[in-house]
Formats: sequence, structure tokens, C-alpha cells
Amino acid sequence: MNTELFTFGDPGEMARRAAEVIVAAAPPGSWRIALSGGTTPRPLYSLLAQEPYRSAMDWSRVDLFWVDERAVPPDHPDSNFRAARELLIDPLGLPQDRIHRMPADCPDLDAAARAYESELARAFETSPPSFDLVVLGIGADGHIASLFPGSETLNETRRGVVAAEAPVEPRGRLTLTPPVLRRAVRILVLVSGAAKAEALARALEGPFEPDRCPAQILREAQGRVIWMADAAAASRVRGNEPPKR
Ligand code: 6PG
Repeated sequence: MNTELFTFGDPGEMARRAAEVIVAAAPPGSWRIALSGGTTPRPLYSLLAQEPYRSAMDWSRVDLFWVDERAVPPDHPDSNFRAARELLIDPLGLPQDRIHRMPADCPDLDAAARAYESELARAFETSPPSFDLVVLGIGADGHIASLFPGSETLNETRRGVVAAEAPVEPRGRLTLTPPVLRRAVRILVLVSGAAKAEALARALEGPFEPDRCPAQILREAQGRVIWMADAAAASRVRGNEPPKR
């Protein structure tokens, strides 16, 4: 079984365990990581930039990519890049040439998607690329990355990066596609809060309908998928329901 679920009493405990898992998995050589946006992984990013995690891996060998990005400038409050820059890149002083920002602020999103595919082709030996680690969050509607329910992008088989539309602002997005996510060596999905409980249960145990619950594409992942959830988020997964009074 390549899928595991770990549950935690609270989001802080989950972030600490996620940081431990990441530094324990980091090889001495180079490492290519794709980061998700959203609020859930923020405590993890900020922990990774602090001791004891900071010194536990060689950050100078890490290449950072993004799972998805919103069509906003890189200094915009909604920018996934900005969150990672503030919490991780700047505090760690990571070298610019290892930061591979998704250029979703480009007015032509399709051209930007193709430019990022070229960047991936330069950085990886394989096509589709195989990330060493992908960090994901999940939406209450079951989306991961910017792969939303009902989106054509879920059927993508050739492209590695595409322009996508979100049902919420900012609507314009760039996102990695299912073939890339499925090839990752290791995927860490962080889930927090009761609002995500149903999505998590559907992702792990619901009938296979990735068109309605995109996170289910992770059932076809080739590598290891580690789900981490706090108690509220895990409360609808079999065996994790709160005791009845
Ligand atoms: C984004 C994402 C997205 C996110 C989920 C969960 O850019 O919004 O990468 O897939 O991970 O929407 O977001 P929260 O962690 O904010 O709930």
C-alpha cells in the first residue's frame, strides 16, 4: 500500500511531524520539491526555516518549484510564491538560481504554462518530471493543486503544466497536471479543519470519481502518498470518527 494516513491532535503537531518527515527523507544530494499554496502548509514552511529542521538538511541542494500559482504579481498577498518566499526562501537565504517560480503573472497564461514546462524539461531528466517531494493541500470541494472538480485538466495526459480556471478569485491559475503529480516519488498532503473532513473521506474512501473529487487522482500515484490530517479533518475517515456520547 503506498498510501498512509497519519492523524494529529492539532495543526501544530501535524506541521512538526511533516517537517520531521521532510528532513528525514532529504537525501545528501540534490532534491526537487514542488510546493503548494494555500494556508495549510504555511506553518510547515515556517518551521522548516527554523531549528532544528533548518540545519537538518542541505538546503543549498534543494530546487524549489510550485504545484500551482495564482495569476497575480509575485508580491501580491494571494501569491503562492510570496508565501513561500516570506516563510522559507528568504529566512533560509536560498539561492535564486534554485527557485523556479511559476510565472502566472504573465498575461498569456498558456504561454506561461509552456514556459514552465520548458523550465521543468531543463531541470529533469524525465518527461513528465518526477519530483522528489510534492507538498499538497486539499480544498473542501476535493481539489488539489489547481485541479478543480469538473475541470478538463483532470483528463490531461500530455501536458505537464497548464493554465486553469478556479471557481474562486483569483480565477486565473497555472497548475501541474495529473501525469506530473502521479509520478512524484513522495507526496505529502496536509489537511486541517472540520471543513475538509468530507473531502478527505471522499479522497481516501469514496467511490472513484476523480472528476468530482480531484484528490482521488492520488490513488493512482506511483510513489508514496502520505496524508496528514488533524483530528477535525480526519473525523469522517473510517476508524477516526470521534467517539459517540
Ligand atoms: C492554491 C492551492 C490549493 C490549496 C487548497 C487548500 O493555490 O490555493 O495550491 O490547491 O492547497 O486550496 O488551501 P488551504 O490550505 O488554504 O485550505
